[in-house]
Amino acid sequence: MDILVVGGGGREHAVIKALKSSRRSGKIYALPGNGGIAEDAECIPVKATDIDGIVRFAREKNVDFAVVTPDDPLVLGCVDALEFAGIPCFGPTKDAAIIEGSKVFSKELMKKYTIPTARSEMFEDPEAAIAYLKDAPYPAVIKADGLALGKGVVIAKDFDEAKAAVNSMMVEHCFGKSGSRILVEEFLEGPEVSVLSFTDGNIVVPMVSSMDHKRAKDGDEGLNTGGMGTVAPNPYYTEEVAKECMEKIFLPTIQAMKAEGRTFKGCLYFGLMLTKNGPKVIEYNCRFGDPETQVVLPLLVSDLLEIMLAVRGGTLREDMVRFSNGAACCVVLASEGYPQKYETGFEITLPETGADEYIYIAGAKKEGERLLTSGGRVLGAVATADDLQSAIEKAYALAERIHFQNAYMRRDIGSRALAALKANAEK
Ligand code: AMP
Ligand code: GLY
Repeated sequence: MDILVVGGGGREHAVIKALKSSRRSGKIYALPGNGGIAEDAECIPVKATDIDGIVRFAREKNVDFAVVTPDDPLVLGCVDALEFAGIPCFGPTKDAAIIEGSKVFSKELMKKYTIPTARSEMFEDPEAAIAYLKDAPYPAVIKADGLALGKGVVIAKDFDEAKAAVNSMMVEHCFGKSGSRILVEEFLEGPEVSVLSFTDGNIVVPMVSSMDHKRAKDGDEGLNTGGMGTVAPNPYYTEEVAKECMEKIFLPTIQAMKAEGRTFKGCLYFGLMLTKNGPKVIEYNCRFGDPETQVVLPLLVSDLLEIMLAVRGGTLREDMVRFSNGAACCVVLASEGYPQKYETGFEITLPETGADEYIYIAGAKKEGERLLTSGGRVLGAVATADDLQSAIEKAYALAERIHFQNAYMRRDIGSRALAALKANAEK
């Protein structure tokens, strides 16, 4: 089967590598892909948000299947457009992608179907929001309704910070229309867990759990980023927690979406916080997470394409999705200065990779035979092993063999997970 993958980051590289190893996969196109992905797929310079361009290309090449991974094309209705043109797709329709596209929608869904989440108030008027925030408990969490490149959440420690966030979202429109409505949310505490799942709208099959490291600096200091590294599985996500999440969150969510006439098919991402009052939903994403996917897919034993076809066809079964019992670690190599100002254009030298090592390229372009950095997050150095400690050591050893001039990485990816494992063992 010839397959088209929409997107061009580390996540897409991981998806493409997994699809490539499928028994039934033929030619793979990436739109737009990147200089590193070009090793594994034919990259076509069509933007992920150019829905007409994507449909035109898919028709022209007569592709058999399409996989849409980034949030913006999904929210724009890329799957609807491709399916309308007769191309079967993996990914939710526009009506279902709203679960990520509007935080007000997802909050109302959770309220209506009693799915555990942070308490919140919605505001359409900045003055009303500011009046409410005068007497609100702090820290307070302020969220823009729509997509905001992962920057739409502000944790305000006092009224001044909260007011500044409301003004920038609702008055200065820093995220455009995305900030015309906001949520003010109760601040939750506890370990965070990412759970990606496959769902065909009827059943939901969770993938191995993972832990993101969102802050730029060691010890979870510094600015929020798109993710500086991940580990899987997440030791906080015990079997008991998993069972509770399935009963109270995962199944109720897909049933709620179906009841609303918005059947969700694809990868549904649950961003969870394990509070002392039980697991609660922090956010839903309508897609694979990045860099979570970079540790989850290397542990997948089953054929990704078969799973995706079953999701599309509504014939998903639990026994189709098998993960190894091992662990994985992804260390992101970024350009020094990310997520603020950074330089690009430096040559990347990549080592040969062994059987349990993967390099997923996120921000690089080809210039002749040379691969040059072109983004903030440049690549993920990933390794799998029987246990987490070894996976972490192998991922760092791999990262040390990769070179470009202004490479920056966190040195403590996975250390919190190791500490939690140790605490579990001592219990
Ligand atoms: P998001 O952009 O939705 O992934 O949110 C970014 C981060 O903000 C999350 O990973 C959490 O660490 C934090 N966050 C979001 N909502 C809350 C909340 N209600 N309480 C505490 N932290 C939160
Ligand atoms: N790693 C978080 C996300 O993909 O949104």
